[in-house]
Amino acid sequence: KIIILDFGSQYTQLIARRVRELNVYCEIHPFNNIPEIGSDVKGIILSGSPYSVRQKDAPQVDLNKFDKHPMLAVCYGAQYIAQHAGGEVQASSTREYGRAHLNFVAEGNKLFKNITAGSQVWMSHGDTITKVPANFELIASTDSVKVAAYQVKDTQTYAIQFHPEVTHSTDGRQLLENFLVGICGCKQEWTPDAFVETTIADLKEKLGNDKVVLALSGGVDSSVAAILLHKAIGKNLHCIFVDNGLLRKDEYAAVLEQYKHLGLNIKGVDAKDRFLSQLAGVSDPELKRKAIGRVFIEVFDDEAHQVQDVKWLAQGTIYPDIIESVSVKGPSATIKSHHNVGGLPDFMKLKVVEPLNTLFKDEVRRVGTSLGLEHFIIGRHPFPGPGLAIRILGEVTAEKVAILQEADAIYINNLKEAGLYDKVWQAGAIFLPVQSVGVMGDERTYENAIALRAVESVDGMTADWCHLPYNVLAKISNEIINKVKGINRVVYDISSKPPATIEWE
Ligand code: XMP
Repeated sequence: KIIILDFGSQYTQLIARRVRELNVYCEIHPFNNIPEIGSDVKGIILSGSPYSVRQKDAPQVDLNKFDKHPMLAVCYGAQYIAQHAGGEVQASSTREYGRAHLNFVAEGNKLFKNITAGSQVWMSHGDTITKVPANFELIASTDSVKVAAYQVKDTQTYAIQFHPEVTHSTDGRQLLENFLVGICGCKQEWTPDAFVETTIADLKEKLGNDKVVLALSGGVDSSVAAILLHKAIGKNLHCIFVDNGLLRKDEYAAVLEQYKHLGLNIKGVDAKDRFLSQLAGVSDPELKRKAIGRVFIEVFDDEAHQVQDVKWLAQGTIYPDIIESVSVKGPSATIKSHHNVGGLPDFMKLKVVEPLNTLFKDEVRRVGTSLGLEHFIIGRHPFPGPGLAIRILGEVTAEKVAILQEADAIYINNLKEAGLYDKVWQAGAIFLPVQSVGVMGDERTYENAIALRAVESVDGMTADWCHLPYNVLAKISNEIINKVKGINRVVYDISSKPPATIEWE
């Protein structure tokens, strides 16, 4: 495997994804908490950083720990090594952000195999290396950055000032492959099929004959986790799927049907009334989330206790959640209390098993495909745990849920019919607590408005609103206003995140 030492760059996760895309397994570790480097570690990558090496509190690391390993230092990492070896790093005099082209590439250098001068690279740095020690060999330059890449002579230490992980560096993938395969000697064997095989074997060994409970949500992560566990321990996996009454129209029945068809041992729990009654009179978004989280835990706990001798709780936690909690910057400030399933009570006293905790979202999808899961599950848009409750602004009532379910179904079906569903990262309708005047036939109406939201995103952290075609929007609006009683106006949300969030609450 490859170890990526994180100095806090926004691009660190992207480096990891690129390495994985080359079918090499890698892990990210914060620079100040380095694991034991065993014989299975084939190489080290040092990330960029929001810090400057010239700052007093800049991240420091003892590189002697890795002197036997090939190393690729990116941006901050490159500056760090140069500075500590007696070179010089100064604030750049010109802006070095964006596209640049290599005007020199050292012939025959392993890192630049199949990459020639002229190749476009992506720069993003405020400091620049102005002098390198005598034992450093320059291996690439651009017009404004002389030290775009160097190798420490007679060692396997390479460094680059540009970012190979962003797609604007057109040969970035080739460069990473040169490092991973040509220099570190990694075999490109880390594929979804291989992951499935080893994970199932590991789960079998870890869980033996123990019973495991898992909360299914209908989403990709919990579904893939369930199938992996099912293949490992069969009927000892007890899945619980709770209907909180806040799902999409007909979703509960459809998902339950789908799971049964997959052979899972699954219990559906209709807890609609329990949730709705706890939401009565609550209009603050955070209080709604807390109420839903609390009822969920109660319902899940009741059900889990009905499974005799259960020892484990399985969760669909994925790698970004783990990185977040151990990251250099610490868990990022809570903007909304996400993931109501995360804090299951410790009175359940169960051991936790998380088969997906090394995977990125796109890898979970690929593993799902390798497990034979259908597009119906794999391609599903993300849907928040508190469901439609946070898409009904203000107090939630059964009547509003029913109206929103109808409007949302019309919206989503139209996206599917127009072939747009798979192009959109997430979409949903929002019930606004605003009434406005309309006219239907000869009658004046005074009814609620629905907002439509559709975003493009990679991970939900940032998002752009989708430019849906006007004719599709027109058809959706028309259908909602004509068919959904209580709605006389439809608006389209054209805000990006940040500063808006994807959900309205
Ligand atoms: P925001 O609204 O923060 O949403 O831009 C980002 C992503 O997170 C989802 N989301 C939630 N998921 N519980 C969840 O499980 C929540 O409370 C919650 N709030 C937002 C949202 O749907 C989007 O995919």
